[in-house]
Amino acid sequence: MAEQMAQRTVFTASAPAKVNLHLGVGERMWDGYHELTTVFQAVDRREVVRLVVEPGAERTRLGSVVEGISTRWLFDDTLPENIDTPKNLAWRAVDVAVSAWRMNCDATAGIIHPALPKLRIEVDKSVFIAGGMAGGSADAAAALLAAHHYIEHFWGEPVGAWHNTEGLARGLGADVPFAVHGGNAVGRGRGDHLRALPSELPFWWVFVNPATTLSTAECFAKLDQLREGNPELAPQLDPSRVTDALITGNPHELAAGLHNDLEMPARLLRPAIGEVLDFGNAYALRAIVSGSGPTVAMLCEGEEHALAVRSRVREVFPGYQAFACGGPAHGVRMA
Ligand code: C5P
Repeated sequence: MAEQMAQRTVFTASAPAKVNLHLGVGERMWDGYHELTTVFQAVDRREVVRLVVEPGAERTRLGSVVEGISTRWLFDDTLPENIDTPKNLAWRAVDVAVSAWRMNCDATAGIIHPALPKLRIEVDKSVFIAGGMAGGSADAAAALLAAHHYIEHFWGEPVGAWHNTEGLARGLGADVPFAVHGGNAVGRGRGDHLRALPSELPFWWVFVNPATTLSTAECFAKLDQLREGNPELAPQLDPSRVTDALITGNPHELAAGLHNDLEMPARLLRPAIGEVLDFGNAYALRAIVSGSGPTVAMLCEGEEHALAVRSRVREVFPGYQAFACGGPAHGVRMA
């Protein structure tokens, strides 16, 4: 799987963004997180992660093997500050993959883990940052898979069953298992306990970032506040309308079933989101907030309709970033 590039060794993997077709938010759990009943669809907008080993790279048996990270943002804007740090989810994913491998080696009688060469992580970001589309989780999923190949290449042995990935992915974040999985799936718990939905029928989307930020914590806290004394905002925990629509492949049925409990708080917290939702409900089949926002997802009839809606978005909201893409998309894979 490794590609020799001018004597470098490069491991390239990609993983998809997601949209929640249904997002039902239940009670807050003991750990401060809300229990979710969600239906994910992976969409064909992929993050690409490359692990690059330069010729003659220093080898190390201890500590991090990561030398640095360089993130490239495929939109025009500048990247957020401090993105290239060890806190970056792609960097953490490489760290946990290597640590897990080391621990497995050392726990197996007679095997001492060998030294691995330092590497640089390159991330091409094409999904909105902190947008509710799990772009960072896609980076982590891609980095986990690329790290798996990097370890096998330099160790010279199979790392073992990929079954470990699910546990590593869950430890990195609630949306990482789905970025590994791809396709369509029902997610429960924090959204990280997945049941696959086998339908592969295509749908088309336009995603719009309304040039605002909205933190996940703020959105969930606002929902809790709104629910006090508003019984009509009770959790919607039955996703059957969207799971049925995935089986028929009819975008009108899917449009009618789309639901997100976080839409009301997102609208109230950021009026710009409401404006884009209203536009999408008029020009597309239906618009919803993606995850906890601020991205708005507009479901369209097909590709042609999606491209027309995207053009109209660019006219009406010239400062907002928008792209069209299809779903479902496959999960993490080597490029
Ligand atoms: O997943 P993440 O760490 O981005 O979540 C940030 C915050 O959003 C959490 O600390 C919690 O307050 C809130 N949250 C929640 N229920 C979830 C996911 C996030 O309450 N299922």
